[in-house]
Amino acid sequence: MRLLAGTLALILLCSCSSDAADAPPPVTYAEKDRPAEAKRLLTGRDWYRHAVFYEVNIRSFQDADGDGIGDLKGLISRLDDLQALGVDALWLMPMYPTPFVDSGYDIADYRDINRDYGALADFDELLSKAHARGIRVMVDLVLNHTSDQHAWFTESRSSKTNPKADWYIWRDTPGDPNIGCGTVNDTFGKDAWKLDPTRNQYYFHRFYAGQPDLNYRNPEVVQATLDVAKFWLDRGVDGFRCDVIALLYESKDGCDFIPETQEYIRKLRALLDGYPDRVMVAESTDYSGSSAYYGTGKDMFHMAFNFQYGYLWGLPFAGNAAKNVARPFEDSAKKNPEGAQDGLVIGSHDVNRAFVAAREIESRWLRAAFVQLTMPGTPYIYYGEELALRPGTQVVVDGRDSARTPMLWSKAAGFGFTTGKPWIAFGAEPEKTNLEVEKADPKSTYSFYRKLLSVRRGREAFGGGALQILAADDPTVLFYTRASSDETYVMVVGMDEDDGHTATVAGANLPGDGQLLFGEGALVREGSAAKVTIPAAGTAIFRVR
Ligand code: NOJ
Ligand code: MG
Repeated sequence: MRLLAGTLALILLCSCSSDAADAPPPVTYAEKDRPAEAKRLLTGRDWYRHAVFYEVNIRSFQDADGDGIGDLKGLISRLDDLQALGVDALWLMPMYPTPFVDSGYDIADYRDINRDYGALADFDELLSKAHARGIRVMVDLVLNHTSDQHAWFTESRSSKTNPKADWYIWRDTPGDPNIGCGTVNDTFGKDAWKLDPTRNQYYFHRFYAGQPDLNYRNPEVVQATLDVAKFWLDRGVDGFRCDVIALLYESKDGCDFIPETQEYIRKLRALLDGYPDRVMVAESTDYSGSSAYYGTGKDMFHMAFNFQYGYLWGLPFAGNAAKNVARPFEDSAKKNPEGAQDGLVIGSHDVNRAFVAAREIESRWLRAAFVQLTMPGTPYIYYGEELALRPGTQVVVDGRDSARTPMLWSKAAGFGFTTGKPWIAFGAEPEKTNLEVEKADPKSTYSFYRKLLSVRRGREAFGGGALQILAADDPTVLFYTRASSDETYVMVVGMDEDDGHTATVAGANLPGDGQLLFGEGALVREGSAAKVTIPAAGTAIFRVR
């Protein structure tokens, strides 16, 4: 028995040592004080380049008073959870008084808070408690239209001669050849003109009829809306997500990002620049790229969403070609002016849950998030993506509600969201996709996000580093590097969902051997080439300098 055990031990020992002889010597690079680095990177004008943003749908985030509707007090109580995840900034969906025909994008008062969510005092408390944790707060600036319940519209519709008669776009007939955008998309009801019986004229609306477009040809409207921005800047918000900002002005040749609109954007930017460290991000209407939204790189937006990736990633991930995933980032690198920083999403309140875009294949949403969190740009996580929230089926406002269901915090009744009846039903599989369950599972989506966010934290290469996409001799292997002045990282994504691959990247000229920081795989240098192994549908980050 003893002999046998001894022989076995010898065999094991021998096979181990021969493996060790083949394996490359493990490499580790000197570690910096990452928390101190994070603090440095997140301080000053360029903080947004290094920040991780998180889009909050207040209504569905956390209900504090048991009425089934999320509120500001609830959100405040979750700041620690957001901080633990690695969130540096919030984008709040509209929190203003609203009749809710477009989930709050129909604003009835720009200077107040929806009573379901709280009051201005709660908002101030949110700001100070978020700031105390180093979390910034951006609000949604919806300037193309107001609600038809806004006092401006009530006055405007009351007669043809009142002081605000010209604040909206009124015509005697439903249409105008000088407004070359007469239809709206199906969600909002096709016809862009509605007869108002009081004034007996038609008004123009790009979205729901309850969202009349403001008339920016009137200088009073320009001033009034800039004053709205000023109101929130004075209150201490860190910036704005600018809703359909391209649509402010109309002309006969088009209504999308025309020169007059660009001029307005420059004014808004100049206003922001009067306050320290405030930033704005554009909701682009162009899915092919957002480079125009940066202007010179200094006079328009700090960030603009890259929807070519953000809303369309489901397509390249359904195929095996790595280059299709890389294309939007190559395009941005080519077209964006210096200093531009795309906002990167894999979902939002306007599209299907990432779970749906990934056709329910877990490795797809994880890889999509991996690319979002490691390519150049500022990531915006849509609440619940870190749990892989499933879509809901109940419709309260419109079909987009499937991605607006309540956050799931625990296994308790109401899933920790509410002690009452939620305003909309939970998404599917809530017992599987709540924070409590996922936190305890090292293989969960939440654990993936938390680990990845902590790896990226305090590493300048991710927020500001140069991108190099390198072709592997295997088209299913996506290989790219991000480099700051003193560190370089290699990212590898396996597009093949069935098999692992080993690929060679000729001319990679890596500055050092790979230290695996995240995921699974191996990276070795062979002269100027790199040889990389990645499991089926895998992701990996290596440090090479
Ligand atoms: C874009 C918003 O994201 C969307 O939810 C809204 O319906 C329209 N703008 C109109 O405000
Ligand atoms: Mg409530």
